[in-house]
Amino acid sequence: MRILVTGGAGFIGSNFIRMYLARHPDSEIVNLDKLTYAGNLENLKEIEEDSRYSFVKGDICDAGVVDDAMKGVDAVVNFAAETHVDRSIGDPDAFLKTNVLGVHILLEAARKHDVGRFIQISTDEVYGPAPDRPFSEGDVLTPRNPYSASKAGGELLARSYFITYGFPVIISRAANNIGPNQYPEKVIPLFVTNAIEDKPLPLYGDGNQERDYMHVLDHCSGVEILLEKGEPGEIYNIGAGNHMRNIEMAKLVLDELKKPESLLTHVRDREGHDIRYAIDSSKMRALGWEPEFGTKAAILDAVHWYAANRDWWEPIKSGEFREFYERQYRSRLEEAGA
Ligand code: NAD
Ligand code: DAU
Repeated sequence: MRILVTGGAGFIGSNFIRMYLARHPDSEIVNLDKLTYAGNLENLKEIEEDSRYSFVKGDICDAGVVDDAMKGVDAVVNFAAETHVDRSIGDPDAFLKTNVLGVHILLEAARKHDVGRFIQISTDEVYGPAPDRPFSEGDVLTPRNPYSASKAGGELLARSYFITYGFPVIISRAANNIGPNQYPEKVIPLFVTNAIEDKPLPLYGDGNQERDYMHVLDHCSGVEILLEKGEPGEIYNIGAGNHMRNIEMAKLVLDELKKPESLLTHVRDREGHDIRYAIDSSKMRALGWEPEFGTKAAILDAVHWYAANRDWWEPIKSGEFREFYERQYRSRLEEAGA
């Protein structure tokens, strides 16, 4: 099986490539990645010399590059995306290009090259907030920020290729992933690394929002199952049911690192902040998928990884990230007196 993985230098894509090559000795993976601020080839150091792996630096919006990369490919897994909600609020442009137009370019090339399976990695955010019940795959989509709206656009287009052309698209909608190699703009690596550096943890609003914190390896094993057993045209929720309120998660992080709760700083809320995400993953479980990590185990595994891998995140936090951090947090922290 020769798989084109897009966005493989990012958080989930790199975990997926490492896992898949280790478990499938006869597989080949081509990784097409633009290397935006979130792409990092350090994530793939341990397999960069593997003869079954190759890397192409390129944009999924570039039809020529995509056409070349698609040659001889049996399956596509599209992880490539702009992924941070806060950045989408400040500047949605790149989100629409990559998450909608990029999906279109990939679908066209994959159809032309008769690719046997196309997994579009989507998100539980497309449903919008789930205050009182988990969403199933047939529920209405109510995305509420530019990121989730662009992901909904991308997956609807992908699904239309199944309905219109019979092209074998499968869509996954995953919950919040956590674990090794996540860019420290996302809440858990941000809070863990800030705590290690004795910096404030900027908790949006009252901190009562809730997320389903799934270990990234549990998401990757779900995608592996979809490559083998997913039904073309179908949508699959992938969530471990690991719900925790942000304020409890922050306290767990501080407790594990033996840092004081005074680092917790309530700051101005995210605009349009979705209170809670929740999905029903019984369709995935019916395919044999079982998450290995519970809530606490997933969060603590992440805490321990960042504590043990300062050489991975310290260079990131001193680069492009600093400008982003200033923009996103300076006035929030000042208002909060921190
Ligand atoms: P990430 O931001 O860590 O990585 C994204 C990768 O895509 C980077 O390597 C980046 O360089 C690459 N990329 C961006 N634009 C590109 C373009 N135009 N062409 C080629 N490459 C491009 O993201 P992630 O957290 O690993 O998320 C991967 C996928 O999973 C995304 O589609 C995201 O929407 C989806 N998802 C993420 C989560 C989560 O909690 N992180 C949950 C559900 C779904
Ligand atoms: O649900 C899946 C989605 O999870 C993915 O599709 C997205 O790509 C991914 O970024 C993630 O989106 P969230 O917005 O849920 O993740 P984030 O880590 O940005 O925020 C998680 C929660 O923590 C959310 O309630 C907002 C809160 N938060 C976040 C940051 C960055 C804070 O309180 N403070 C912060 O500084």
